[in-house]
Amino acid sequence: MNVYDSGRMADVLAPLGYVQVEAPDDADMVILNTCHIREKAAEKVYSELGRLKHLKNAKEDTGERMILAVAGCVAQAEGEEILSRAPYVDMVFGPQTYHRLGEMVARAGRAGDVVLDTDFPVEPKFDFLPASAPPMNPNKASGNEVSSAFLTVQEGCDKFCTFCVVPYTRGAEYSRPGADVMAEAKRLAATGVREITLLGQNVNNYQGAAPKGDWGLGRLIAEVATVDGIERIRYTTSYPADMDDELIAAHADVNELMPFLHLPVQSGSDVVLKAMNRRHNADDYRRLVDRLRVARPDIGLSSDFIVGFPGETDADFAETMKLVEEIGFIQAYSFKYSPRPGTPAAVMDTHVPDKVKGERLAILQDRLNTQQLVFNRSCVGKVMAVLLDRPGREPGQLVGRSPYMQAVHVDGTGGTMGVIAGLRITEAHANSLTGAPVEDYADAPNRAHERASA
Ligand code: 5AD
Ligand code: SF4
Repeated sequence: MNVYDSGRMADVLAPLGYVQVEAPDDADMVILNTCHIREKAAEKVYSELGRLKHLKNAKEDTGERMILAVAGCVAQAEGEEILSRAPYVDMVFGPQTYHRLGEMVARAGRAGDVVLDTDFPVEPKFDFLPASAPPMNPNKASGNEVSSAFLTVQEGCDKFCTFCVVPYTRGAEYSRPGADVMAEAKRLAATGVREITLLGQNVNNYQGAAPKGDWGLGRLIAEVATVDGIERIRYTTSYPADMDDELIAAHADVNELMPFLHLPVQSGSDVVLKAMNRRHNADDYRRLVDRLRVARPDIGLSSDFIVGFPGETDADFAETMKLVEEIGFIQAYSFKYSPRPGTPAAVMDTHVPDKVKGERLAILQDRLNTQQLVFNRSCVGKVMAVLLDRPGREPGQLVGRSPYMQAVHVDGTGGTMGVIAGLRITEAHANSLTGAPVEDYADAPNRAHERASA
């Protein structure tokens, strides 16, 4: 979502004459868009600021000015503290304020004011953001020829998992009206976008206003699939308890919906899940996965895991490992529990020693990496639909994403950027695949994997 938000900031700043550049050196303004989810992410901001201070000073030595800003969730959570730890910062503003960025820049630029804006406005910011320009490609300074784009449809979280800062930094759940999302999807398609990832902290609890009753996410996906040019749809991130029948059915019915779902379970222990205030237990998750597999037999699952949550015993951790074995995730993120100030878990008195967290994480990651490699190897010999969207490191090489989000490399003869190519997978690696073009590749590209394995 920060990538998407950075794009919107660029949209707001464009009328003021700002264009994006590749590197901070010599920039007139640098905005750090920050993440507060774990302590490491938050601490990175201060080390990055230390480096940028030198660039700012160097620019000032030549008689020019660099505006240095901190945006995002660290700004929201630590506003005043940033200004006292890094007094050379000019602007600090939270995720709900981006539509006021022009005004903030004017204040910081003209008057040299220090700007701090961490309000949650009453009015939703989306109503005040300009219509999005062609999406930002993080690999390129120009905004054109992007074939895969993010589209935020929902923001904020009311779930209050006891470990998580998001409800405090992003605020309450809010869904954009269906018509707004559709207008943005059409604009993206018109610029050449072929794949849209619908974003939200609780994207599957989307409830967008529409003339004849609210749309849930399943309905929204079906609508976005009707937009000319949109060939692939994804959504992230989902909360297991909010997967409704309509959304599960969309996995069966909407050909554009990719057979890959990031569905964080966090732990396989019911005791830990309860202490986390998750509204699912391990069996609920198992049943949900079963239903998804009935709807879309070739679906691949991904998850987030936290190890060493306060009170987690060896037996609890064994439950997580058991769940991992049973589900067979094709990809996953896993983290040591990191206490976040202001969250209920941070003040629990049963913290797990860091050494134990480290040991459990190593065991879990080893298993998850093996599962990923096993899945990648199972793709060798199959034809996969790959949306080629960026140049590779080697001359003439292109890289794209399979339906399962695997990076697939192909040499330049394999296709054109921005096109979904049929590639026969020739090699599997830990984090990527290599493919070769298939001559007569044509119909139903999104079901290619299913067809190949049938
Ligand atoms: N410590 C460790 N991991 C966390 N996450 C969220 N909060 C914490 C925390 N305090 C993880 C969860 C979530 C992902 C985005 O980050 O697994 O799904
Ligand atoms: Fe955080 Fe996700 Fe839980 Fe919301 S549902 S509190 S964003 S982990």
